[in-house]
Amino acid sequence: MAEVTITVRPRGPYLVQGNVRIVDADGNEYPVDPSKPVALCRCGASQKRPFCDGAHKSCGFEGDDRATPPGA
Ligand code: FES
Repeated sequence: MAEVTITVRPRGPYLVQGNVRIVDADGNEYPVDPSKPVALCRCGASQKRPFCDGAHKSCGFEGDDRATPPGA
């Protein structure tokens, strides 16, 4: 079973690591290199959505979400 990790970057993108397919609403696949992490925009400011283009650094995005540890 393939393992995928999605890391929520502080004030930045979702960093996807693992063997994944990324498709649009019509099921068309975006070309991605499975050997490299993929950064997906979560600020909405990227000109290359769904991918991050670094615009989060200058758009004032403040997302700093953290998981609540079990038992906390
Ligand atoms: S998260 Fe990087 S451009 Fe949106």
